[in-house]
Amino acid sequence: MLRARIAATGSYVPERVLTNFDLEKMVDTTDEWIRERTGIRERRIAAEKEAASDLAYEAAKAAFKKTDIKPKDIELIIVATVTGDMPFPATACHLQQKLGLKKAAAFDINAACSGFLYGLSIANGFIKSGTYKRILLIGSELLSRITDWEDRSTCVLFGDGAGAAILEATNEDRGIISTHLRSDGSMWELLHMPGGGSRNPASKDTVKKKMHCIKMKGNETFKIAVRTLEGLVRETLAENKLKISQLSMLIPHQANLRIIQATAERLDMPIEKVMVNIDKYGNTSAASIPIALDEAVRQGRVRDGDYVLLEAFGGGLTWASVLIKW
Ligand code: UT7
Repeated sequence: MLRARIAATGSYVPERVLTNFDLEKMVDTTDEWIRERTGIRERRIAAEKEAASDLAYEAAKAAFKKTDIKPKDIELIIVATVTGDMPFPATACHLQQKLGLKKAAAFDINAACSGFLYGLSIANGFIKSGTYKRILLIGSELLSRITDWEDRSTCVLFGDGAGAAILEATNEDRGIISTHLRSDGSMWELLHMPGGGSRNPASKDTVKKKMHCIKMKGNETFKIAVRTLEGLVRETLAENKLKISQLSMLIPHQANLRIIQATAERLDMPIEKVMVNIDKYGNTSAASIPIALDEAVRQGRVRDGDYVLLEAFGGGLTWASVLIKW
């Protein structure tokens, strides 16, 4: 049976570190509040000249170093982002130019924090159908560019970064086992950026009203996230006739340490088997899972034959899981 497997991962975060102590000087907050309520200690902020395709390019380069697959072998580039270089063309096209590729197809997807998993599902479909054999998938975000730095309820949460996965077709008994995508558009207002699209095109007024910044009802989102993620993981395992104890690793979207811990507790999943790096990067939306996955691989925490479950929840609302046999 034709399957898609992740042949290599890579990630990149910008050099500049913004700590909780730095934020104490910017808004009415404390390091203690941020650590206790979110688990975040610091986050990375992109340099002025960097955009999503630059971060994506660095993450892609890191992934290509770990495999024999060359950029010219890639037939499709997918970038998951809500902070692309520009509204159009796709950031995937900018990345294609940087990689010097002429033939590959390239497009972006917008599923907010679930974007990388939506991307894995799309890539999986193309590979299983025999359409493409090698796909480059990236989650790249510069949330610092759409953050209201005067709003303490959101500005302490987000960061910038990118993670990459190179997928290839295999006939081996490994790779993506199943993908599960969900959304509920009736709750879009919980997490969104109102300005800059066709509803509220950019104007002096939209800028004045800070409509080009993230708006989030954090507490409501938090509660729905915990409930939803528990159900999603149970559903994914049940469909594959697997028990929690058979999972070697859970790699969740890094939105809030308390969401990660509460989900793990409800599932009876030992926290040692859960990948956590939110302390270093904050919430990097579509980039958080590929960055965490790349770190888990580099730390030797993901080994051949392991069952690894990725799960995410975010704006849309969207949520998703992907089960992989590594
Ligand atoms: O990635 C996509 C999905 N995103 C999420 O899943 C994020 C979900 N939400 C969260 O992570 C949490 O809801 C937050 C971290 C955003 C907020 O934590 P919370 O425990 O839900 O706090 P809250 O919003 O209920 O606010 C509690 C208090 C409020 O003060 P009062 O009204 O009780 O006096 C806030 O004004 O904390 C206050 N507060 C802060 N205090 C110090 C909010 N932000 C801050 C801050 N520093 N940065």
